[in-house]
Order: sequence, then C-alpha cells, then structure tokens
Amino acid sequence: MLRVVVVDSPEHAGRLAGDAVAAVVGRVQRPVLGLATGSSPWPVYDELARRVDDSSLSLAQTRAFLLDEYLGLASEDPRSYRAEIEREVVGRTDLPIAAVRGLDGEAADVDAECRAYERSIRDAGGIELQVLGVGTDGHIGFNETGSPLDSRTRPMELAARTRQDNARFFDGDVEQVPTHCLTQGIATILEARELVLLAFGQSKAEAIRQAVEGSVSERWPVTALQRHPNATLLVDRAAASLLEGADSTA
Ligand code: F6R
Repeated sequence: MLRVVVVDSPEHAGRLAGDAVAAVVGRVQRPVLGLATGSSPWPVYDELARRVDDSSLSLAQTRAFLLDEYLGLASEDPRSYRAEIEREVVGRTDLPIAAVRGLDGEAADVDAECRAYERSIRDAGGIELQVLGVGTDGHIGFNETGSPLDSRTRPMELAARTRQDNARFFDGDVEQVPTHCLTQGIATILEARELVLLAFGQSKAEAIRQAVEGSVSERWPVTALQRHPNATLLVDRAAASLLEGADSTA
C-alpha cells in the first residue's frame, strides 16, 4: 500500500522518517537500513544525528547498505555517495563505519561487484527499511526511465537530466558529473520490507503525481512503489501540488 503524507517542512518529514527508523531499531535485533544519498534524505540524517546525540536512539547494532554509487569516483572522493554517507550519517551517529556497505565505484569487474552486493544484502537478511529520494524524471536509486521493474543491482548510464540535476554537487559543472553509476535494481529496492521516500519542491511534483496516480510502468520507475505492501511518501506541499485532493496531512 502506498501512503502519502503531506508534511509542513523537510524537518517534519525528517521527524516522521526518524520515527520509522526508531521503530525498526526498537523491533529488530540487528537492523538493516538502506540509505539513499542526494539532498532529500538530509533531514532524516539530521534527525538521526539529533536522536543519537540525545541518546534516544542508537545505531550501534545497525548495518546499512547504500542505494547507489557513481562509477569512476574513488570512495575517498568527497562527492562519492560512500563519502556522503560517512559524512552525513557515520560521522554524526554511532553507526559503525564497518557496518556500512556501499557499491564500489572503482570495481574492476562491475558485474561481479553487483552480484556480490545482492548476495551481501541477502546474507544480511534483507533490508528492513529503505530510505529513498526520487529524481525529477521519476528515477529511484539510479534506475532511470526504461529500467525493468524486475531489475537487480547493475551498472546504468545516467540520464542527461539527472546529470544536469546533480551538477549542483559538482561545482555546477555537468561535465564533472560521472556518466555512469551502479545502482540497486527496482526489484532489489522493492524487496526492502518498508520504503520511505522523501520529496520536496515543485521540481518533484510531476514525479510524485506519477508515483501516486500514474499506472505502473518503466517510463516512471517510481510508480513501482505502488506494488510495495508498505511504502510511504513524505512530500511537502510543493511536491504534492499536482496530486488530486492533495490535502492528506500527518
Ligand atoms: C541517491 C538516489 C537518487 C536521488 C534522486 C534525488 O542515492 O538514489 O535517486 O534520491 O536523484 O536526488 P535529490 O534528493 O538530491 O533531489
């Protein structure tokens, strides 16, 4: 079931997502989280840092898997998703660095890396809660338009629009944005037991409209969330502005 919660602010979304993480951590002995990058999850990571700081939450027993990674960036490169999670989550909470597995953007054999990643997720017992953002073109992870709904972790070419959107993380220079990535597949993402997707701003409104009201198709990968039994969209008013009857609130 796809739930839509219209939040007052990104901080409000961060608190609700923080509640969802806390519920998992309270319920499961060795919780496994799926962590997205990009700007949308930042309020969640701010909230987790705040809760760990005031000792109302501990991630010391938690393991985490990243959603995707740029190809060709070393993990030490500050623009790599690995580095972002180390900065935003590991550096500000008690999540152990050794408990974080990301895709290796410099793997010599990318197909072997993707297969090993799927195995690692399975061996960890699967992902309990996956945090997601959405691209303006409807991608989840880096599953761009046309990604099969049964896709698994694999290399992908980034869409021109995604590279343009992400140029803000590369000094505004689209030429610096890698052309390829490794990403969990849509089927991989859907296997997480709970999905929490955050979207803020008008630029996400069409993707959110498709997610909720569009028919499930490879054209808008985010529509796959309609097939998940426990998925929540946390969206601000601007991102919800194209939804019919967009007046449900938390
Ligand atoms: C990042 C990821 C992407 C982003 C999406 C939105 O790990 O998987 O799907 O969530 O590109 O990015 P932001 O949040 O920066 O708008």
